[in-house]
Amino acid sequence: MRLLVIGGTSFVGRTIVGDALGRGHRVTTFNRGLTGKDVEGVEALRGDRSTDDGVRELAGRSFDAVVDPGGVVPIHVARTAQALAGSAPFYAFVSTTGVYQKWDTAPVDESTATWPADPDQDGDPGDFQNLRVHKRGCELAIERSYGPGASLIARAGSIVGPHDNLGQLPWWLTRVAAGGRLIAPGDPGRGLQLIDVRDLSAFVLDQVEAQAGGTYNAVPAGTNTTMGGLVDECLRVTGSAAGPVWMDEGFLLGQGVMPWAHLPLWIPDAPETAGFWAVSGAAAKAAGLRTRPFGETVADTWEWLRSGGSVQAAPGTPPFGLAPEQEKQVLAAWDAQAG
Ligand SMILES: NC(=O)c1ccc[n+]([C@@H]2O[C@H](COP(=O)([O-])OP(=O)(O)OC[C@H]3O[C@@H](n4cnc5c(N)ncnc54)[C@H](OP(=O)(O)O)[C@@H]3O)[C@@H](O)[C@H]2O)c1
Repeated sequence: MRLLVIGGTSFVGRTIVGDALGRGHRVTTFNRGLTGKDVEGVEALRGDRSTDDGVRELAGRSFDAVVDPGGVVPIHVARTAQALAGSAPFYAFVSTTGVYQKWDTAPVDESTATWPADPDQDGDPGDFQNLRVHKRGCELAIERSYGPGASLIARAGSIVGPHDNLGQLPWWLTRVAAGGRLIAPGDPGRGLQLIDVRDLSAFVLDQVEAQAGGTYNAVPAGTNTTMGGLVDECLRVTGSAAGPVWMDEGFLLGQGVMPWAHLPLWIPDAPETAGFWAVSGAAAKAAGLRTRPFGETVADTWEWLRSGGSVQAAPGTPPFGLAPEQEKQVLAAWDAQAG
């Protein structure tokens, strides 16, 4: 197939491009040439979809499908979809489960209410605060130009794997590898639902090849590891002798440790987050999504870091991790209250 990938040089897009070339497709990428490098073997077009002028390079070209892994501003995606609707019959978009409005019931499936959004909304690509609403606006922009039958909306949960550009699993790997006593949050048995970028890529490409439209939660069909499993796999692949100290969630919150931001992938167990790690992946599974064992993801991400890989975060991405000084203070407070 002749595929156009918008972006394609960072994490999800880069993986999709590599996999598409491996499947024998001809791949054209379209980006500004600012983030990363184009994967070898593509035809690289330069352009900036934040302006009407910027997408001119796409005029007069035809493709079998467009893959848009990184769109975050509705009007940019609307412009791209409008420019290509007459010359590419199928549009695949990587969205996020963050488009859902409420997380207090489980499971969260594709019929759960989404944020109200505007497909023509302009904005700053680095505006993390409004990302969830903007991603919904992007979905609406694609549906407007392509309709549900000719578009794939893959709502990804938390994505992990080599070339990670958010840095959550890389933070845990690096922290565990550094050794010593480290803070482990809450119940080690708390389930997590993490999608390997390569499984997401395979799912998107399978649907693109079949030109099968639809909206899917791109997540494993159930929890595929636990908080304890995450820490244990990091210990295993790094060979570290670090000692996790499992701490009560209430204690950590009282110490000012912020879920997600300070300890990546930690979401306290509470009624309002009942659905967070309970997203239904049933529809995607029925459509062909296959997920690999989590241990493989951790090992391959560590291998990527060890071979010189580093997290290249997009502008606006909040930094992750607890500062060493705060970690020391919290460990001392934990020891003091334990007597
Ligand atoms: N990480 C997670 O846990 C998670 C969870 C759910 C959903 N997601 C979604 O997954 C996606 C990840 O995408 P990615 O960053 O990995 O995709 P990517 O395609 O690998 O990288 C983003 C690309 O967009 C290009 N780009 C940025 N601004 C552009 C512009 N104005 N015009 C043309 N190209 C532009 C960048 O290149 P230039 O800068 O050179 O133009 C870069 O190639 C995001 O949509 C995110 O919302 C992530």
